[in-house]
Amino acid sequence: MTRWLRGEARSNSPGRILILGGGLMGLAIAHQLARRDQRVTVLSRRRSEAAGFVAAGMLAPHAEGLENALLHLGQLSLSRIASWVAQIEADSGLPCGLRSSGIVVPFHSADERDAYATAAFGDRLDREQLLQEVPGLDSQWKAGLLFVQDGQIDNRRQLMRALESACVDRGAQFQEGVEVLELFTADGRLSGVRTRNSEGSEATLGCERAVLCSGAWSGQLLPQLPVFPVKGQMLSLQSPRGALRRVIFGPGIYLVPREDGLVVVGATSERNAGFSEGLTPQGQTTLKQGIATLLPEAESWPPMERWWGFRPCTPDEGPLLGNSPIPGLLLACGHHRNGVLMAGATSELIADLACGTEPKQDLAALLSSFRWDRFQSR
Ligand code: GLY
Repeated sequence: MTRWLRGEARSNSPGRILILGGGLMGLAIAHQLARRDQRVTVLSRRRSEAAGFVAAGMLAPHAEGLENALLHLGQLSLSRIASWVAQIEADSGLPCGLRSSGIVVPFHSADERDAYATAAFGDRLDREQLLQEVPGLDSQWKAGLLFVQDGQIDNRRQLMRALESACVDRGAQFQEGVEVLELFTADGRLSGVRTRNSEGSEATLGCERAVLCSGAWSGQLLPQLPVFPVKGQMLSLQSPRGALRRVIFGPGIYLVPREDGLVVVGATSERNAGFSEGLTPQGQTTLKQGIATLLPEAESWPPMERWWGFRPCTPDEGPLLGNSPIPGLLLACGHHRNGVLMAGATSELIADLACGTEPKQDLAALLSSFRWDRFQSR
């Protein structure tokens, strides 16, 4: 059981910042902190469960139809993506697979298209224009929106690896197979964590600053946080090279074509699955049927891989950012469907807060919208 304890923890590495979670958010924050010459240690329970390896990597605030503060955060993140990726690529020497492929959202009618939350940000397409963008699109789709500003990144095969390498290159330390069991406080502030490693040994690490970015598991360490898993099942297809140029984002199904012709297909959205692992016949059938409803010719493209993961969701589907109930512990979790998009802006914001630097005004202005306690009546 995980608990939040009051007590003493030895400060065995004064000044070091602990990153509680080795997924995309943890890596991105560790990287930004290491670039600012902070000493950081990333504690990762199980690398393979990180949502960063599971997501399709769409950079899609407009295609996803985000609204209000979430849209604004998504747009700020999108505007920072190129420079963020350039930092990672420079530090790691590895490509991240950023592609400005644009994203097409198809609709059954022009009315449906015009009512879409982000319609004002897209190019309106009729059926003929839609077919020019996505040859072979099923005949049920009569209208569309093209968001040329949205894109994608190859999170699963490239970004995560590049970030790990960039972190190490910048001096971040890693402990893989280490679970954080408890948080300690002293005089009302964070004072350390208790951990268990993969050999079963427990240890106490003292720290005055940490970032909680444990994805869908964040609420297990700090039960006040309303973070819960939304399971997603996915698969990939190998298309003929160049068969699909744009990302297609349909209702409940999307196809994301990588540079080498691999097409990532997502995703189920299972709110009642909890942390149940594995593929299910129903989930895989949903994806198969979804492919047919979007692009019938893709039904003949061979499947390459199938996988699943857990989105970290909150009641309003927005992240928890900034201060936590424990002074010294910052939050960067609950990004639901938009973690890849928002990792760049989140890491900049959290690194500023951890270092005591004033965040840029555009990001700082959003902090109140993403407080952890916004769901409680005040
Ligand atoms: N970002 C798409 C998804 O979570 O399925």
